[in-house]
Formats: sequence, C-alpha cells, structure tokens
Amino acid sequence: MRTQVGIVGAGPAGLLLSHLLHLAGISSIVIDTRSREAIETTIRAGVLEQGTVDLMVETGLGNRLKREGFNHQGFELRFGGKGHRINVQALTGGRIITVYAQHEVLKDLIHARLAAGADIRFGVSQTSVHGITDEHPLIHFIDECGQPQQIRCDYIAGCDGFFGVCRQAIPEPIREEYFRVYPFGWFGILCNAPASSNELIYARHELGFALISTRSAQVQRMYFQCDPDQRPDAWSDDRIWAELQTRTAGDGFMLKEGPIFQKNVVAMRSFVCETMRHGRLFLAGDAAHIVPPTGAKGLNLAVNDIFILARALASSYATDSTELLDLYPATALRRIWRAQHFSWWMTTLLHRFEDATPFDRKRQLAELELVTHSISAATTLAENYAGTPLG
Ligand code: DHB
Repeated sequence: MRTQVGIVGAGPAGLLLSHLLHLAGISSIVIDTRSREAIETTIRAGVLEQGTVDLMVETGLGNRLKREGFNHQGFELRFGGKGHRINVQALTGGRIITVYAQHEVLKDLIHARLAAGADIRFGVSQTSVHGITDEHPLIHFIDECGQPQQIRCDYIAGCDGFFGVCRQAIPEPIREEYFRVYPFGWFGILCNAPASSNELIYARHELGFALISTRSAQVQRMYFQCDPDQRPDAWSDDRIWAELQTRTAGDGFMLKEGPIFQKNVVAMRSFVCETMRHGRLFLAGDAAHIVPPTGAKGLNLAVNDIFILARALASSYATDSTELLDLYPATALRRIWRAQHFSWWMTTLLHRFEDATPFDRKRQLAELELVTHSISAATTLAENYAGTPLG
C-alpha cells in the first residue's frame, strides 16, 4: 500500500490528523490494534477546551457536539466544607469548556472519516515502523484477516499512545524522557443518577480529592483519590457513596446517588518525550506525553499537537519547505510543558499527600484561598483551564 502519511493509532490524535489532512487534500491510512467497538466504547475523560470545540466545529465535526455537549461557564473548587465558584467565562473574556466524552469525539471522527472514504484498519497486530530516516519509511503489520501488510509513505505519525511502538523507534541517545509518578490514583465511577450540580466540582478534603463530573442528564461521572494499585471491585457501592458524600459535604450539599454501572482506576503520572520527531517519524498525543487527569488536559493537548502537525505537513506538501515540520517539536512542546505545569499544579493543589506535614496542609489551604479570592490568581487558573487558542 502507498499513502502520503501513514498514521499509527486511531485515537483522537490519529483520527483528527487523518481528518485535517483529508481537508488539505493529503492522503493517509490509519491502523490500530483495537477494534472499532473498543475504540468507540472505552470511557476516558470528557472536558473539551474552547479551542478544541472551535476546531471541531470549523472542520465539520461539531453537529452532535453542539447538540449533546454541555457548555460550562465555570466550575467549583470545594474545600473546608464550602464551595467557591471559578467563573471561567468572565475571567477569560468569554472562553468556556464543553463536557462531551472522548469516546463521543471518537465516534464523530470515525463517522466523518469513513463517510469520506477513509482507509482505517482496525484490529491489526505486530505493527512495526522501518526506515524512518529514509525518504519513504514503511509500516509493517498483520491485518485483521492475518495477512502481512506494508504501507509505504512519505511520513509516519506515531499516534499510538504511551504503550505504542513508534516512540521506541527513536533511538535512545536522541530521545530524552521526563517522568513523574504520583503516589495515588483516581477511582472513577459511572452511575445512573441526575446531576448533583450544574457545574463540575473539584473537592479538596482531608481524606483526599474528589471530582464530580457528568456525562448526560441521566449519567454522572465521579472520581475520588485512591491507592494507586486499588482494585476497582474492592469497593462496594455503599462504601463508594459514603466516601464521595464525605469528601464533597458542606453547606448542606448532598450528592444524588444512583446505581453504579462502571468502576475503574486511573493511574496518575506526568511524562514527556523529547524530541517528538526523528527523520520522517512524528509523535503526537499520548505517545509523546501524559498528564495526570486533574484539569483534563490530555485530549486537548493531543488536539493541539495535531493542529500544529497537520498545518506543518500541509505546508511541506504545498511549498516543498520543511520549515514548519522542523519547528513541530519545539512548537508543540511549549504548550505541552505549560500543560504539564498546570496539571501538576492542580494535582498538588487538590490531593492529599501521605507525607505532607501540617505546614504543607496549611500551605495548600492558603493556596486554595488565594485562587478563590485573588482575581489575578483565579484568572491564571481560569485561563489555563479553558485553554489558550490552539497553536
Ligand atoms: C473529567 C475528567 C477530568 O480529568 C477533569 O479534570 C474533569 C472532568 C471527566 O471525566 O468528566
């Protein structure tokens, strides 16, 4: 097979790249080890920045998002038994966030790509990339029917996530990896219940962090800080509700409870791979960086990588100059490190650290007082939360 850009991974990064390249008249083939069903049903995060929503709308992906997404003008920080609203819209000159689950974005992308005749190979195995410093690199894989296949391309986009093969193809002396692992995880649930609040609640409690989010009028998403190797089935529903009620209590607030139909534990780590390019291989999304989920930057960062990469690839075909492609890692990494800082900061602001001293806990509360009472501190939080324009 021959294509211009071979894309490894049909997650948000890979599919969005294929979509944007198609709009620029550039061909691509996307492969993924997972089935279409697995991609469309795996529960991930659900908060889209203004820039992500704008890009989706401008490129024809916004119909269902506009109908079914929830616009949130702000969110609540809850500590010391009281809620404090951060008015994101007012603090950022009109930017808002939209709650719309990642797998819904994926469904919209797959639908748009297939409607445009895209070649997406689901359920492949044994993917490997070859000749990435040659003029025409190759992707090898075994297709769904067990047949060995080869894609010859001009460029390869490694959008295959943290555990993918593409990053490993960059030789170690060239690749520098920055890691931070947090000593806790998030216990996530999905339940059938009405919303308990109009906006998301990020709660800091002596027992640990809790987050109240939503998926629809009838389905709610909630998380609480837990042991990192917690087994999801170790917690009964009653114990989960007691923990969530305690961590969010105050001012007479009560969570509306309902049947829990999914439990999972989310790992918390920060990771950046520098560089994001070797020869004709470009990394994007989780293949190159992971943020802890606090603040929901992961998907939005992948979208920013792809916005930059698609523009750079289009420019290289249109002008024969690789200037923008050469700038891709540096351009993408600026926002990646800014989001790394924000996600780390919001995590440390709201979580319980076992080794925290009484001084550390007072300092954490003082910081929460600052961001909820100082306009300039609240503005910094709101700007980072809503996200700056893409690029
Ligand atoms: C959700 C996840 C997040 O990490 C966050 O900061 C807000 C919401 C969610 O899954 O709804």
